[in-house]
Amino acid sequence: MEWPLNNRDGWRRCRKPDGMEADIFCASDPVTGSGCYLLVKNGACAVVDAGCFPLPAPALSGHAPAFLPVFLTHGHCDHISALNSLRERFPVLAVCSRACSEEIQDTKANMSRRMEAFLYYKSNETKLTPYAPFRCGPADLCFEEEIRFLLGGWRLHMKRLPGHTPGSSLIFLDSALFSGDYLLPGERVVTRLPGGSQEQYETYTRPWLQTIADGTWIYPGHGREFQMCGEARRFHEL
Ligand SMILES: [Fe+2]
Repeated sequence: MEWPLNNRDGWRRCRKPDGMEADIFCASDPVTGSGCYLLVKNGACAVVDAGCFPLPAPALSGHAPAFLPVFLTHGHCDHISALNSLRERFPVLAVCSRACSEEIQDTKANMSRRMEAFLYYKSNETKLTPYAPFRCGPADLCFEEEIRFLLGGWRLHMKRLPGHTPGSSLIFLDSALFSGDYLLPGERVVTRLPGGSQEQYETYTRPWLQTIADGTWIYPGHGREFQMCGEARRFHEL
């Protein structure tokens, strides 16, 4: 199967762990910088963070997946903006924590209601970017704290780690770790958005992040993939 995903289409091929079968592609949203990951293995596809509307659906058209797992790290709008369009065109199985499922259904919790003001503020009040509020239907498969299973050839481990949002999770897919808005290169974790909690981050999430082995390939929600190392530990105070 040929995958015509390249820079011209808005996708780039990511580096990946030794021995990892799946190819990993990433598109970055020009407005928010959020990454949407598309994994392909033996003709099977999976999506991690359905952002970057409208790129994911065309990239998958013609490949007619029997079903399409979509794993969500959290419910912020810049990570789910393509979920509704994917659901219109493919048999999506959206998987996330129960708290994340609640986030995606609410325009305040998913931040889409405030995104226009947020982007204006981020541009130092120089640029107005129209951003229409939206909500998504609930996830198709939810877990409370943690889930491990084999799904369509993917070895999956998702662990809820609150702090950025109540429903934030880290996702291990085979040997790759998708960190959402944790472990961003050059950006400290944000816990001051709606539902965020520095206390929960310190209690539950920071200790768990400290257990990630050096050399683990990490695919963050913004920025390029990297391997866990001393420099990343120092920056994120792990
Ligand atoms: Fe976020």
